[in-house]
Parts: sequence; C-alpha cells; structure tokens
Amino acid sequence: MSSFDVAIIGSGPGGYVSAIRCAQLGFRTAIIEKYSTLGGTCLNVGCIPSKALLDSSHHYHDAVTHFKEHGIDIPGDIKVNLEQMIARKQAVVDQTCSGVKFLMDKNKITVFEGIGSFKDATHVDIAKADGKKETIEAKNIIIATGSKPASLPFIKLDKERVITSTEALKLKEIPKHLIIIGGGVIGLELGQVYLRLGAEVSVVEFLDRILPGMDGAVSKEMTKILKKQGMKFYTQHKVTAVERKGNEVWVKADDKSGNKVDFIADYCLVAVGRKPYTEGLNLKAAGVKATERGQIEVNGHLQTNVSNIYAIGDVVRGAMLAHKAEEEGAMVAEILAGQKPHIDYNLIPGVVYTWPEAAAVGKTEEELKTASVDFKVGSFPMRALGRSRASMDTDGFVKILADAKTDEVLGVHMVGARVADLIAEAVTAMEFRASAEDISRMSHAHPTYAEAVKEAALAATDNRALHV
Ligand code: FAD
Ligand code: NAI
Repeated sequence: MSSFDVAIIGSGPGGYVSAIRCAQLGFRTAIIEKYSTLGGTCLNVGCIPSKALLDSSHHYHDAVTHFKEHGIDIPGDIKVNLEQMIARKQAVVDQTCSGVKFLMDKNKITVFEGIGSFKDATHVDIAKADGKKETIEAKNIIIATGSKPASLPFIKLDKERVITSTEALKLKEIPKHLIIIGGGVIGLELGQVYLRLGAEVSVVEFLDRILPGMDGAVSKEMTKILKKQGMKFYTQHKVTAVERKGNEVWVKADDKSGNKVDFIADYCLVAVGRKPYTEGLNLKAAGVKATERGQIEVNGHLQTNVSNIYAIGDVVRGAMLAHKAEEEGAMVAEILAGQKPHIDYNLIPGVVYTWPEAAAVGKTEEELKTASVDFKVGSFPMRALGRSRASMDTDGFVKILADAKTDEVLGVHMVGARVADLIAEAVTAMEFRASAEDISRMSHAHPTYAEAVKEAALAATDNRALHV
C-alpha cells in the first residue's frame, strides 16, 4: 500500500495549491481527483471558462457597438460563431488544466484518478473508472472537494433547457430569451455573455437588489449600467415553479405584492448559489463532522473534529472563491509544517467580471452602519478620468470607507474598467492598515484608472478630490 505524509482529496484551486505547498515543505504528497482533468470547478467549469466567454463576447460587443466610433469600419456583418467561441474557451480550459498536471509532476506529487472515500481516519479508498480500487495511507488528509450548483426543491434541472452554470458554459445555440434565477455573480457574468451575443436576458431575484452581498452603491450602479445594456431585472420576485414545455421553459413567480408573474423563455439558468460537495466521501468512516448541508466543520486552523483531517475551500464556511481556497490550501500545508500562518478573511477581495467590473474588499457601508462604526466616505466617478474617456469606459466609481477618527481604510468598493485588478491596491493598503491619507499621498501613474483610487482617498481624507 502506498503511504504518504499528506493526501488531498480534490484538485481544485484549494487542493492543488495545497499539494504544491505541501511538496515545497518536504511532505510526500498525494492528490486524488475523480475527474480525468485536474483543476476542479474553477479551471474546468468555473472561473476560467466563464472569463474566456466573457472576453470573447466582450470583443464581439465592442466590435458591434464601439468600433465605428473608434474609426474602425468593418465591411459586411459582424457575426458570432458560437461553436468557435466555445471551442476557444475549451482550449483555454484544456491548456490551464494540463498546466496543473505539469505542476504536480514538477513537484513530484502523486496523482490518483478516482473517487476518494474514507476507509478510516488515515486510509482513503480510491474507486477508479475501470472498476478497480486502491487504498492509500496518509498521516494527514485534507478534504478539498469543493461545491456543486445549488437549486430550489421544486426545480427539475434537465441540464438541456433548465440549466446550471456548467451547461451555460457550453450551449450550442444563443438563447432567444434566457431567464436567470438569481442576480448574484454567476447570473450577472453569464447573463452578460448571452446578452452581448443577442439574447434577451431576464434576471429574477428574490431579494430587493442584485449582488445583495456587495455594498449598496455597487448594486445600484451595476443595476443602472446593466439595465442600460439591456438586461432586465425582476427583484423581489419569489419563483414558485419552473416547468419545461417542449422547447419552452415557463418560470412562475410572485412579485412583492403577491401578483402572479409568468416568464416564458427557451432557457432558464438556475444560479441561486452553490452547496458544499461531500457526497461519496464516507465521512462517517473517519468520524468527520459535517452540517446538514454537507459543510465540513472546521476550527480556526481548518482542522476538523478529527485531528489529522483538515478541510479547505468551498467545502468549508466562508466565501466560495478560488483565491480563498488557495490561501486555505497553503495555510494548512504550513500548519502541518509547524508554521503559524494566518488569513485575514476580511481582506479576501470579491470581484464580478462583467464589464464594467465590480470589485470590493473589507466592510460595506451597510455593515459599518449595522456595527455602529463612525466612518467617512470618499467617492470618485470614473467619468472624471482622462483614461476612462480615452477608452470610452466612463461608468462606475471608486468608493473608500475610512474610520472617522483614525482615517484607517475599512472598505473599498469599485465599479469600472479593470477594477478586478485595481482592487489589489486596496488589499495591499488594508493589509498594511493604511489610512485614506496614506493612499492619497501615493503617486498614481497618469493616465490610469488607478487615479480614481487616489482621488477617492483624497475625497475621504478631507473632501479634497482634485478632478471633480
Ligand atoms: P473545487 O474547485 O470545486 O474542486 C473540488 C474538486 O474535488 C473537484 O475537481 C471535484 O471533482 C473533486 N472531488 C470532489 N469529491 C471528490 C472525491 N470524493 N474524490 C475525488 N475528487 C473529488 N471564484 C473566483 O474566485 N473567481 C471567479 O472568477 C470565479 N468564477 C466562477 C464561475 C463559475 C461559473 C463558478 C461555478 C464558480 C466560480 N468561482 C470563482 C468559484 C470557484 O470556482 C470556487 O470557489 C473554487 O473552485 C473552489 O475551489 P475548491 O478547491 O474548494 O473546490
Ligand atoms: P450568489 O450567492 O452569488 O448569488 C445567488 C443569488 O440568488 C443571490 O442574489 C440570491 O439572493 C439569489 N437567490 C437565492 N435564492 C433565490 C430564489 N429562490 N429566487 C431568486 N433568487 C434567489 O451565487 P451564484 O451566483 O450562484 O454563485 C455561486 C458562487 O460561486 C458564489 O458564492 C460566488 O462566490 C462564486 N462565483 C464567483 C465568481 C467570481 O468571483 N467572479 C463568479 C461566479 C461564481
């Protein structure tokens, strides 16, 4: 029987990063993945393919709507070749996944393909696709089995027309009308892909605003911008039924006044969140505790109730984000090596990769109000930047929330071009507990979108933004 210092179940960004860090620290490491490609949700059916389609559809949208104004005339019609778009996306996925395999080999990590399930607290059975079974032994085991799409109890996902994000990444035709249940990150990102390609897109959201976890100003701005782009929003609508009728999908909902509303479309994307994935793991055999929803319970060191078994990423509490899973993967490896790593969960940034993008780190205005924190706000509109006018990306803003007394930055919220990248400046500043004045006194290259960060910091410091 093969024996390891650490065995990791699941090869998503949590699992594979943890494996690399374990190997770097000198542990004999194994990783078990049920699919033939490594990389988990993120690389196969999540972050990477969704961004590939966002990029392709963005190019098409620019060509149709902006090229003329830029002085670029294209003779004839500009057409979408969806088959090629999906094929390019798949090529990006394949290349990225094989990159993970390369990293496993480079770090001498043993990869097992098969479904891992606990035999006991130090042994994992691996059920392979050919029906064979192998058992390995490990001193420490890390559960990194991630998550799967959640749904509503009355919805039958036929995966043809009533679909999850996984199917939405490989449609064979552009929907005429796509109904999206859930105005969260997946709904808006994939909704924008098909909106740009010509679909009518209706988002049905249970709460009173889209992106309900983000700062209210971000929700409001994104609603305004996406509405302008043609997306339709039905907030405060409670979906009560989803029925497939031939090539149509009927979605029934109650609006806030209790009126019955019917939506008819050819596709319905269910994007109401994701649930931890622990099926088939046989947690009982190892004595590992999970909640009723399947979320594995861990302490501050990501250790389960069984001392040599840890869990990371989407399968444990916290934001379901790839970079959060990665941080946790590295953290557990370092704990096993006797180090004392730390993650500040408040400073895990969140990004929505629509265009314009939305990004945030730290506390929202609503959270600070609920916690009765005395704070000040500095905002700066993107339209006031020369860089934004040059690229015709004038929507959005940067908003900085700082402590009223100490000026420490408590939260940064952005909508605009490339804010997915700009948020890193805010994370760095907050990791070093910068004040708004600290940021405002740093030189920011001109002309850049980053100047909006400096200007918002100036606005927060002493209401002295320069360019408004
Ligand atoms: P996963 O990536 O889910 O990996 C778990 C792996 O474990 C899977 O490969 C699974 O097959 C394997 N596994 C499960 N059970 C077993 C078993 N018993 N034996 C063997 N293997 C097993 N996050 C971002 O930060 N940025 C984004 O832009 C982003 N975009 C997304 C877009 C979409 C459409 C979706 C669905 C998600 C997106 N996410 C994004 C979320 C991100 O994908 C997840 O947070 C991340 O993948 C979680 O990593 P993980 O390692 O915990 O689990
Ligand atoms: P989400 O949690 O972002 O959004 C779900 C939305 O559905 C919420 O607005 C919620 O109020 C709404 N909802 C819930 N029940 C509903 C109902 N019955 N009727 C109508 N609306 C309902 O989840 P989503 O978009 O499915 O994404 C899943 C996870 O994947 C997220 O946690 C996210 O972190 C991650 N992800 C991250 C991305 C990124 O970082 N850019 C991109 C895509 C996904």
